[in-house]
Amino acid sequence: MADLMEAVTSLAKRRGIAFQSSEIYGGLRSSWDYGPLGVELRRNVRSAWWRSMVQLRDDVVGLEAAIIMSSRVWEASGHVGGFSDPLVECLSCHQRFREDHLPDPRKCLNCGGADFTDSRHFNLMFKTHMGPVEDDASVTFLRPETAQGMFVDFATVQQTSRKKIPFGIAQIGKSFRNEITPGNFIFRTREFEQMEMEFFVKPGTDDEWFEYWVNARLQWYVDLGIRKEKLRLRAHEADELAHYAKAASDIEYEFPFGWQEVEGIANRTDFDLAAHQEASGEDLTYFDQENDERYLPYVVEPAAGVDRVVLTTLIDAYREEEAPTAKGGTEKRSYLALHKDLAPMKVAILPLSRNDQLVPTARAVHDLVKPRWMSDYDDAGSIGRRYRRQDEVGTPFCVTVDFDSLEDRQVTVRERDSMTQERMPVDTLVAYLSERL
Ligand code: GAP
Repeated sequence: MADLMEAVTSLAKRRGIAFQSSEIYGGLRSSWDYGPLGVELRRNVRSAWWRSMVQLRDDVVGLEAAIIMSSRVWEASGHVGGFSDPLVECLSCHQRFREDHLPDPRKCLNCGGADFTDSRHFNLMFKTHMGPVEDDASVTFLRPETAQGMFVDFATVQQTSRKKIPFGIAQIGKSFRNEITPGNFIFRTREFEQMEMEFFVKPGTDDEWFEYWVNARLQWYVDLGIRKEKLRLRAHEADELAHYAKAASDIEYEFPFGWQEVEGIANRTDFDLAAHQEASGEDLTYFDQENDERYLPYVVEPAAGVDRVVLTTLIDAYREEEAPTAKGGTEKRSYLALHKDLAPMKVAILPLSRNDQLVPTARAVHDLVKPRWMSDYDDAGSIGRRYRRQDEVGTPFCVTVDFDSLEDRQVTVRERDSMTQERMPVDTLVAYLSERL
């Protein structure tokens, strides 16, 4: 496909999936708004993650921590001192870049210049003040990862949930990083949403659990229909490990702009718990009753971004093909071959026309479907165009109500990918869809 990225971003904008934030003011770079279909897609990504990571497991519980935490959290975690990217400025055009994003040999991506300032550490945390006084004592940060919530609440969650190690704490929520070079649509932004799980294990079992989670997380993408050949694992070299990690592997996807991280799995050891124990003076050790021993757990962390998973699913599902038309010719059809669990709308009800007799029947069919699945009711334009509109946003099933339906109480169900059509009694529609959705 000539330009897959362009096709997906323009589809996202045209269909209100995701578009530039504050657009009427010229747009805010790196901020994106999600419209009605984007909201559903994101909810489905979150739900798929939560179902797999929390609901179906006996050993993981949930948490929603505040975005604004005590600034002492970020001092102890090492983020105030060490959460930075190398920043350089082009001496010709004065544009700033992340040094490790420049080509080798170094060349300005804006003007082609070759001379830069010395590299300096640029801290990525958004800094603000809490309350009416803007002094050093009121400095707070927007969290750059959700993970610290799980560390500082570890003892409380463990005691209240009465979970025994190994167990995990999962959280989905917004994080903020003042990225030097955001870009590639929703891939790298300054405000984004993370899905993270801290899995607390006995020291010595951490390598095994790390392997376990790397494989489990890769399988999650495959189960959601992402093409296997577009996914790979990449272990971090020692010199690229985050300040807290003993080992890390990325799950990468082959985006149109290259292989890039969608999710990272890290062995964080007891770095964070030890740091918070030391800084807060609170005992964060775990007492293992069976073995009568007390220790600081190690942590294995799978951390994914909602927005990156959304982009991955859109890119991976985008298809263009020549499809037959009713008149015997062909025309270009683009569709999203999204996994049924991710599709924003599961079913669309399409009355053949706005005829007074058809509408109540079609509405009644919609009423059958609506309580069970997110569904659309579309009566505008030719039926062929309406199929295309649904295909384009990945709706797995279209249900057409025609004049024969009034007599025989049957409807036609069309499947998105194969475009095959099946006629069936309205009474069997919900059972038919339930088997497939
Ligand atoms: N707690 C560990 C952690 O935050 P990370 O690799 O920095 O690790 C985890 O981030 C995931 O969060 C990434 O794999 C990515 O999916 C997402 N993410 C990180 N920075 C992002 C950004 N600027 N824009 C969008 N997603 C981002």
